[in-house]
Amino acid sequence: MDNFTYYNPTKLIFGKGQLDALPDQVKQYGKKVLLVYGGGSIKRNGIYDSVMAKLAEINAVVFELPGVEPNPRISTVRKGVEICKNEGIEIILAVGGGSTIDCTKAIAVGAKTEIDMWDIITKKESAHDALPFGTVLTISATGSEMNSGSVITNWELNEKHGWGIAPYTFPRFSILDPVHTFSVPKDQTIYGIVDMMSHVLEHYFHLETNTKVQDRFCESILITVMETAPKLLADLENYELRETIMLSGTLALNNMLNMGFRGDWATHNLEHAVSAVHDIPHGGGLAILFPNWMKHVLDEENVGRFKQLVERVFRVDANGKSDHEVAIEGINKLREFWNSIGAPSKLSDYGIDESSIELMADKTVVARPEYGVFKKLTKQDSIAIFKASL
Ligand code: NZQ
Ligand code: ZN
Repeated sequence: MDNFTYYNPTKLIFGKGQLDALPDQVKQYGKKVLLVYGGGSIKRNGIYDSVMAKLAEINAVVFELPGVEPNPRISTVRKGVEICKNEGIEIILAVGGGSTIDCTKAIAVGAKTEIDMWDIITKKESAHDALPFGTVLTISATGSEMNSGSVITNWELNEKHGWGIAPYTFPRFSILDPVHTFSVPKDQTIYGIVDMMSHVLEHYFHLETNTKVQDRFCESILITVMETAPKLLADLENYELRETIMLSGTLALNNMLNMGFRGDWATHNLEHAVSAVHDIPHGGGLAILFPNWMKHVLDEENVGRFKQLVERVFRVDANGKSDHEVAIEGINKLREFWNSIGAPSKLSDYGIDESSIELMADKTVVARPEYGVFKKLTKQDSIAIFKASL
């Protein structure tokens, strides 16, 4: 493996009733709070009232930015930056999922600079500061609660980019109570499961050698999520099942699994291009694209990596089969598993047809002409993978 430095300053506060820790965490940074949240789920399930009651304990002065979209937009980031600057906000509190947290990360950086956040997100400009922010996670999926990444969409340009400036875009604290995820509907629960599995798979496909510990970590998370998911989908308010999925989602993308190497991330680049043009749920796009990326990149040189994964995780019996056959059987098993839990499998499930393939493929190479670590891909590869996904 490569040399590495691991640093993750996010304080993870996990378990039932842990919202009680909120007042102490917030007051370390100040009393003027910007509360950022999404389209209203936290008002319907009572989390908003619980959070406000906790903030009242420290007499916090609370400003609000509601309405963060799934696939959060730069226009909403700019609104939040305005509030922070005008009101002298001292700490931002994100209450929601990856979209709310990612938007908060961008607001936190934008509050400390005169540069427009889109220029920082697209790396034309840089920034080296941010307001402190914490999170109360309400859906298990992205891992944004314990990483420094953020993904923001510019709907005018149809572009969606991942960015982050560690250590400033790490949450100072994240409160994860599995009970807060009881109300996540079935479809969003499925998307979250696909997303966290995809993060592990992105890590798994790398070019380093001697990553035995990391491989086993990845495999154990995949096996655990696949064992838990069908049970959870039949019993959405089961604490232990929600708890297992919540911890899996965080561990899948807090960069512990990829110590000493860089994963592939081509499928995320492809999905971000699809959702930049069609605004579909991130996990839904990944479920469609990942098996097709796998089939596209599989070759004689890298087949060993696929074989290890599918023998260990999908329990494919290799006896009497070529490595290629084993790999394909495993990829098909992944597809079948995601189908079995109700994830989409074709772009046409979202009404996407051939007519937008060229535009989506252009978006995959906006930031750089080649992408992917396990195998370098170009626009032509994007077109082939999108066509196979129709
Ligand atoms: O907006 P509200 O009303 O809150 O509803 C949300 C939203 O409609 C709902 N929801 C969340 N918690 C709920 C709930 N509904 C009922 N009860 C609850 N407790 O779920 C919907 C989806 O929420 P969202 O935050 O969009 O989901 P997710 O966490 O999957 O985030 C997706 C975004 O994160 C980005 C994606 O690209 C996408 O923009 N990603 C961020 C990453 C990161 N920062 O590390 C990595 C990921 O790969 C990903 O790209
Ligand atoms: Zn993802």
